[in-house]
Amino acid sequence: MITAAVKWVGGVDGFLELVDQRRLPGEFVKMQCRDIEQLYEAIKTLTVRGAPAIGVAGAYGLVLAIQKLKSQASISDAIECLKKAVEYLGSSRPTAVNLFWALKRVEDKAKDFAVGQTNAALSKLQEVVLGEANAICQEDVDMCRRIGENGEKFIKDGIGVLTHCNAGALATAGQGTALSVIFEAHKRGKKFKVYADETRPLLQGARLTAWELKQAGIGATVICDNMAGWLMKQGKIGAVVTGADRITANGDAANKIGTYSVSILAREHGIPFYIAAPSSTFDLNIKSGSQIPIEQRSADEIRFLGSERIAPDGVEIYNPAFDVTDAKDITAIITERGVIEKPTPEKITEHFKQTVDN
Ligand code: MRU
Repeated sequence: MITAAVKWVGGVDGFLELVDQRRLPGEFVKMQCRDIEQLYEAIKTLTVRGAPAIGVAGAYGLVLAIQKLKSQASISDAIECLKKAVEYLGSSRPTAVNLFWALKRVEDKAKDFAVGQTNAALSKLQEVVLGEANAICQEDVDMCRRIGENGEKFIKDGIGVLTHCNAGALATAGQGTALSVIFEAHKRGKKFKVYADETRPLLQGARLTAWELKQAGIGATVICDNMAGWLMKQGKIGAVVTGADRITANGDAANKIGTYSVSILAREHGIPFYIAAPSSTFDLNIKSGSQIPIEQRSADEIRFLGSERIAPDGVEIYNPAFDVTDAKDITAIITERGVIEKPTPEKITEHFKQTVDN
């Protein structure tokens, strides 16, 4: 696996190290984030991206937020500072729930610590916040591995597997979600072919998934997004596996724009469609996918390919970054806890009642 896409370096005075994903596959470069403004920009520009990775990065962002406070600052000043940082970082990208989940979890931990600790030193709170961010990061590593172990059985020898966007190590703190399933199947000696949708407009499939799979010695065949149906028709695809950015209580799943179309194509061709995602991607407060906020991104992402203009000046552009796949078109959701076949609200509630070892 590649070096961690998101990594905290040092103690409470440390910094966040990110693989700069905008520069892949041309260059493998790391950047250091030393304040929350820099981190906000990194999340917004997809320097760090992928639902679990932005959750982990956001959690560490709260360490950066209270690092800047003077050592004499009170615990209540620090809690106020965290509150503002949660709002600020949470306004960077709206769709992936992992960001909000991680920010809330760290803030709640800090608030719990603060009860009855008004005279405690700021450094104590900083340790609590870093400790919780580290826990979120380590849990993500474990969840990714378990997702792979739980999902590898769906990768049958000899099939073609289609994935969309990048749900690999670059998108998480661990070995990915959809790609973890592929890595684990490969580890067990299965022979199969991976197809990666290029994933317009930002090309996460061509740039990142193909790069990661090449690094892992698996390799991938990159196809344009509009080719998936034709490959299915020719019998080249035996399974589709993607990640998710938010899964609602009924099993609808938001993921990178284009995933919905792939799910319809898979249904039409009778091909199983799997979503691989950790529990931090579930938003059980939302009943269905129609309530998921969909990020709208700059028209220039479509108007230009690199620095080259590919659509006329002044033409209207629509650029939703995500879409929602209906639960009825998902064969199974693979989580760190196991597999939810043909997801329904009841099965999802039941899934989260069980302990992780079940
Ligand atoms: O806009 P991105 O690149 O952050 O979108 C990422 C995706 O849609 C991934 O498939 C999703 O976050 C799952 S990553 C394990």
